[in-house]
Amino acid sequence: KDRVTVARLQKMKREREPIAMLTAYDYPTGQLAEASGVDVVLVGDSLGMVVLGYESTVPVTLEDMVHHTRAVRRGISRPLLVADLPFLTYRLGVRDALQAAGRLMQEGGASAVKMEGGRDLAPTVKACVEAGIPVMGHIGLKPQAVHQTGYRIQGKTEQSVRELVDDAEALTEAGAFAFVLECVTEEAAQTISESVPVPTIGIGSGRQCDGQVLVFHDVVQFSVNGFRPSFVKTYADAGETVLSGLAEYVRDVKNRRFPQEQHVFHGKSAVYGGTKR
Ligand code: KIV
Ligand code: NA
Repeated sequence: KDRVTVARLQKMKREREPIAMLTAYDYPTGQLAEASGVDVVLVGDSLGMVVLGYESTVPVTLEDMVHHTRAVRRGISRPLLVADLPFLTYRLGVRDALQAAGRLMQEGGASAVKMEGGRDLAPTVKACVEAGIPVMGHIGLKPQAVHQTGYRIQGKTEQSVRELVDDAEALTEAGAFAFVLECVTEEAAQTISESVPVPTIGIGSGRQCDGQVLVFHDVVQFSVNGFRPSFVKTYADAGETVLSGLAEYVRDVKNRRFPQEQHVFHGKSAVYGGTKR
């Protein structure tokens, strides 16, 4: 089918068609994301927290991101595939940023990269874009800066809204094709979205953004006892469904109810087979 491009996302903003974006971290979550009809798939460095079990995104490495981006790439074809540049990999100088972004595209198969920051990143964004690397920005709450800022809502004062607008304009001028707005007030998100021609993709940033993004595992509650932020709407209880299935499997094994006759091979006629969902 028709692949989603950067140009298509910008057209969607002009035509006021909301952009749906979702994270994915491996082949099956990529396939599920594709099947959902989502426009953009992000291999987020939230990988560190929801898949690798770290307490923040800070420990995630470029190797981790390349490895998981490759897996997602094998699972999707229509959505635009964006991969996060992890902590520090785009802060050691423009040359290192280009190299890291290049790996996400060449080895990982990403079509674009995302980085956290505003005005401060303008030269880096510009260099990437000039090299043919589409860049998505990320402003508001920046999880990679958690050790500095904690997790708190941004854009609560006029001053901070002005700074966010400055960041958004600088990123746009540097050539970013879109940006994530994380946990800013709805009022700030509206002001920012009206200030720039490129799409804003909100998470915890209200109804006035040009698109929305959520973490896969939050949308379907794919965890045993995970924290759910108040801005998330949960659409399925995958954790509960999966856990009850797994527990039943264990009970069946313990009670010798699995395997049964249809799961067994006998004699010479035995062949490996199965069905497709
Ligand atoms: O890493 C991530 O999942 C993200 C999104 C939540 C925007 O950056
Ligand atoms: Na991220």
